[in-house]
Amino acid sequence: MLIRVPDRAAQPLASEITPAPVYRNRRLLLQALAASAAVGTGLAAHGSDGAAALKATPSTVPGALTMEKPTAREDATHYNNFYEFGTDKSDPARYAGKLRTDPWSVEIDGLVHKPGRFALEDLLRLAPMEERIYRLRCVEGWSMVIPWIGYSLAQLLERVQPMGSARFVEFTTLADADTMPGVRGRVLDWPYTEGLRLDEALHPLALLAFGMYGEVLPRQNGAPLRVVVPWKYGFKSAKSLVRIRLLEQRPATAWNKAVPREYGFYSNVNPAVDHPRWSQATERRIGEDGLLAKRRPTLPFNGYEAQVGPLYAGMDLRRDY
Ligand code: MTE
Repeated sequence: MLIRVPDRAAQPLASEITPAPVYRNRRLLLQALAASAAVGTGLAAHGSDGAAALKATPSTVPGALTMEKPTAREDATHYNNFYEFGTDKSDPARYAGKLRTDPWSVEIDGLVHKPGRFALEDLLRLAPMEERIYRLRCVEGWSMVIPWIGYSLAQLLERVQPMGSARFVEFTTLADADTMPGVRGRVLDWPYTEGLRLDEALHPLALLAFGMYGEVLPRQNGAPLRVVVPWKYGFKSAKSLVRIRLLEQRPATAWNKAVPREYGFYSNVNPAVDHPRWSQATERRIGEDGLLAKRRPTLPFNGYEAQVGPLYAGMDLRRDY
């Protein structure tokens, strides 16, 4: 069953998230985090256009640092899918400015021994920040290469101690009609939800991202934190996360509910399985848009087969798309 967060009235009050003296002193807290950057994690001085810089060290997770040239930051922050702000690629950059990311917390519940509500400040300190350069392949046939900052989702999941009966993870993202104009429409059944099998979520390449291009995430890219699952179509990478729930049964997901024939639960990047309305064999790399630019061949599991292929041993990925 989906848990709806239809409007701001249903959102947690700041005072429910963080003790009052703490959130009132948020500025001091951020300064403390800046100081902690000296030991390799946390927010530091201000980056390019006023965004806080986020320090990270290059990831040592196998496959986490593609050598491909990153997409221009301008393209990655102005060609977005974030339907809560509208369906046009330029809508998120245009309308996401009103999204309030402070205070922010993530509820973790369901089949875990240590459920709880985690304040963003605590999540920022939970594990050392790593830089990961991932390809992102959208189901629509375009791709980007993005230098993300974050740590493996597994590091958070292990903290809450999944129960033996937990098999799936559900991600729920913010749906605030006051600040997200798209939520007033009915393109999807809000809030946007996604899901992974627990072993997929525990794979070290599954990333909890807080930043990109050396800075905290811009709002249109899913601030203040999102999931990034590089071997799956981009829609699995849920933005502006507010809840993580561990379940025994497979959760419903927003795109699968909207168009089940087109969007399955697994959604592994697979050039051999066409979308019902178009081929998935090739992709357009954003930024390579000249008249003579060639489409690139799409790779199985978006090029991460060596790392994640064993998760799907014995499965028929044409049926389980
Ligand atoms: N998360 C939310 N909450 N809402 C969305 O509409 N779109 C998805 C995914 N996460 C989406 C979302 C899709 S279709 C893609 S391709 C990626 O975000 C795009 O991420 P980017 O805009 O940062 O490149």
